[in-house]
Amino acid sequence: MKNKILSALKNTEGYISGEELSHSLNITRSAVWKHIGQLRDDGYMITSVRNRGYKLENDFDMIDEEKVGFHGETVGKKLIVLKSTDSTNNELKRLARDGEESGTVVCAYTQTAGKGRFGRQWKSDKGGLYFSIFLRADLPPSDIASITLASGYAVCLAIREYTGLDARIKWPNDIIIENRKICGILTEMAAQSDRLDYILIGIGINVNNAEFPDEIKNKATSLLIETGKITDKSAFFGKVLESLDKVLSSFLVSISIADMEDFKKLCATLGREVSVQHGGSILTGKAVDITTLGELVIETQDNEKICISSGEVTVQGIY
Ligand code: BTN
Repeated sequence: MKNKILSALKNTEGYISGEELSHSLNITRSAVWKHIGQLRDDGYMITSVRNRGYKLENDFDMIDEEKVGFHGETVGKKLIVLKSTDSTNNELKRLARDGEESGTVVCAYTQTAGKGRFGRQWKSDKGGLYFSIFLRADLPPSDIASITLASGYAVCLAIREYTGLDARIKWPNDIIIENRKICGILTEMAAQSDRLDYILIGIGINVNNAEFPDEIKNKATSLLIETGKITDKSAFFGKVLESLDKVLSSFLVSISIADMEDFKKLCATLGREVSVQHGGSILTGKAVDITTLGELVIETQDNEKICISSGEVTVQGIY
């Protein structure tokens, strides 16, 4: 019944009265009111005006599976949209115990315990796009770093294509615009001996976030801040999933990013002075290349080239 009310609201321009809804659906006025309440709880913005009735407002922040419109074989076979959860990564871990199939994506409007890299918290207020991809792939755990890199590349391409903004990759897997972070990725895995059981790629993109807490406000940005416009989250999400499906499908065949040269062109870290924790000390030098395995090559002052496969890199000029 709730869905019938939703489609009546969608098919009406302007207001539809409670009486009309109760009449056409053969339910009482109080049942109409109850279902409208449930739709609001689901996140739909429905205004009600006395003597006119109910109106469904355009809510571009909603994720509507029909408008997302993409289901890939590798990414997005099934899409689960939640109002809120502790963390979409945790949600998938729970589903994994019940034998979830590869390709499922879980997204949530808010996360109460969103997780960032290095045990940090990922603030997940309404407005952002928070989702995780569940993959079962027969890979060694050592491939987790490059699959994360490939995911960041896919998101970067989708942001560029959808918005025309100059999104770039901060190695290994942050996406930045004008040196401020717009997206972060946290990959987790479960492995048995030397093979992956499953992998969870958790992606947070600042989409319609209007502001950030003081501690990150100079380092973070959103599509809303960069474009000055609200982004239709469903349509954007569709593009992001499509790009991830394309890049990750090809990654799973060749176990490398197919267009590594394009990846390098979009990598803001290359050519800059960097420092990173390495073997108990801080390594500084210039980021000069990325290997086929996705490692960052740093050239030190002594002209020594050192490959780094993970870690938190500080890049001169970027937050
Ligand atoms: C980082 O840059 O530190 C990584 C942030 C990853 C955030 C995403 S939001 C969706 C998924 N669920 C989480 O709890 N974390 C990831």
